Amino acid sequence: MREAIRLHDRNYYVLDQPTISDAEYDALFRELQALEREHPALVTPDSPTQRVGGAVRAEFGQVRHTVPMLSIRTETNTTAAGAELFDARIRKDLGLAPDAAPVDYIAELKFDGLAISLRYDSGLLTVAATRGDGEVGEDVTRNIQTIRAIPLRLAAHAPPGLLEVRGEVCMARKDFDALNARQEAAGLKPFINPRNTAAGAVRQLDPAITAQRPLLFFAYGVGEVSGWTMPPTHSALLDALEAFGLPVNRDRRVVHGARELMAFYDTIAARRAQLPFDIDGVVYKVDSLALQRELGFVTREPRWAVAHKFPAEEMPTVVQGIDVQVGRTGAITPIARLAPVFVGGANVTNATLHNEDEIRRKDVRIGDWVIVRRAGDVIPEVVRVLAERRPANAREFVMPTHCPECGSAIVRPPDEAIARCSGGLVCPAQRKQALRHFASRHAMDIEGLGEKLIEQLVDAGLVHTVADLYKLKAEDLAQLERMADKSAANVIEAIDASRRTTLARFIFALGIRHVGEATAKDLARHFGALAALQAAGEAELLQVRDVGPVLVESILDFFGEAHNRQVIAALQRAGVRWDEQAPRRGGAGPLSGKTFVLTGTLPTLSRDEAKALLEAAGATIAGSVSKKTDYVVAGSEAGSKLAKAQALGVAILDEDGMHALLKRSGEPS
Ligand code: IVH
Repeated sequence: MREAIRLHDRNYYVLDQPTISDAEYDALFRELQALEREHPALVTPDSPTQRVGGAVRAEFGQVRHTVPMLSIRTETNTTAAGAELFDARIRKDLGLAPDAAPVDYIAELKFDGLAISLRYDSGLLTVAATRGDGEVGEDVTRNIQTIRAIPLRLAAHAPPGLLEVRGEVCMARKDFDALNARQEAAGLKPFINPRNTAAGAVRQLDPAITAQRPLLFFAYGVGEVSGWTMPPTHSALLDALEAFGLPVNRDRRVVHGARELMAFYDTIAARRAQLPFDIDGVVYKVDSLALQRELGFVTREPRWAVAHKFPAEEMPTVVQGIDVQVGRTGAITPIARLAPVFVGGANVTNATLHNEDEIRRKDVRIGDWVIVRRAGDVIPEVVRVLAERRPANAREFVMPTHCPECGSAIVRPPDEAIARCSGGLVCPAQRKQALRHFASRHAMDIEGLGEKLIEQLVDAGLVHTVADLYKLKAEDLAQLERMADKSAANVIEAIDASRRTTLARFIFALGIRHVGEATAKDLARHFGALAALQAAGEAELLQVRDVGPVLVESILDFFGEAHNRQVIAALQRAGVRWDEQAPRRGGAGPLSGKTFVLTGTLPTLSRDEAKALLEAAGATIAGSVSKKTDYVVAGSEAGSKLAKAQALGVAILDEDGMHALLKRSGEPS
């Protein structure tokens, strides 16, 4: 185990090329610690557990840390309860009575980067060093001097004689993605993750390369200090560092007792995916420096601090198979079937592989060990293959030639990334999703007709096309599992109510590829009647606002399909009706050509209602204010859009003003 850990240490710290995940490493390390605790006689002085970690690269000069750079204990209970455990331990170590006042803590983010020490002599940055083994680190001064976030001189009239600042160098996710895009465009190997990239950039022999990497720095503490009076608390220390011009992350808070620690943990955990950089948890420290001194250290870790981890977002697992999923438009998505793994706080058994090219690019094979990532609420994905763990019998994925749902041919146009099932509406997968789309809120808006029910209806053979919905009776529904009479009646009522709709909604509900809500509205406004749209040729379609060749092709394909025309006819026979209007070719409504932006809460109309009224008069609704905006309709709590409109001198209306304008413009001139 020692050998294995040493090898992983070298891969991680020296080569910046880890071959296992942090979670696996931690598990291995903890197992060794536990073994050594049980058998103290077996502990050797060179065991990886006997040092803080890290190996110094020979090419760099060495820096001895006069105050060792220690690590902190990790709380592995990845629920808020971990914070309670820390508080309980602190109270016990301080000998506090149960009814004693809550302890003050400072809660910070745990940055996922590389620990760095910055030595400022009389306010000037003189030495920057990595942690190394905690006692001796690498001299990376020249590299660190290229990081713009790090001041070369402290902003102070009377700077401390010596101030050694400690913090973390890391990289923002968007900068990492952009860097990787450049890397791939140049045909180079992509970087693994922001942390290793940041670490690699600092531990570069050529500072010119470091200078090209967009690095961040956050200060979180100090090492050696002289010629300066330390503030009484850690929070005041951080404020002082900030005043010296050092970046200190603002997501830090002084909290009182366990309850507030737990709240901090939950708040940050919920915001984790929105933060611009990766964190793997939060850090709690006793705020009072006097209490910190009183608590002291156990072996090499301070008693007064803990790193409280979040559930790992990346975990390794095995690809047991690769299946394909068929989407509403027939798009085929390859899905990795995984050996179940707990990641991002949930059990994951599937991860998307996006498309065939992605599988080839990442070279994912069946049987491979892969890193799976689940961040925030996004769909889990396969990040990369652990190539060195590839078994001899790993198999390449072969795109099936036929749809697993309906047996129709799978086709992939030569210039497209996505393969598709050609089964159209005969394909049950496409049918279920076509039904789901048809019933959705912005389409026919059939309440109660959700995914589960559609699944049951199609599987029971009760519904083949969207037109079949209108033949359903309450008895049909009531025979399905878990369907009470009352809810069956409600669904039938909702289906019935959807018979009256608008042309725009109806066009959108058909699920024509690329025809979203906005295009459906444009088409409805332009043609006024479904028959006119169905009869339109390429030239006519191209006249509709924002309609280009791709849309034209999919509209023509859709109406060219006999099956689709039959479904539309069946819907009409079933009594589905929509408002048909005189065509407004060229969008000739009274407000056509006028662009509106809605902001804030209007007194009586909802956002959707106001939008519908304006659009019915031919207006275009935009999302943001620009010089091209004609009117801004502002309600209460209107924010930046209103300010921008005022700045640009755009006309501003309230709800009454909007009604007046509609009335005026609606009158014959
Ligand atoms: S305090 C004696 N605060 O986590 C306490 N460390 O094992 C010194 N880290 O590699 C550490 N964010 O670089 C502290 N807000 C934070 C931190 C933090 C990240 C890193 C640190 C070290 C590890 C602690």
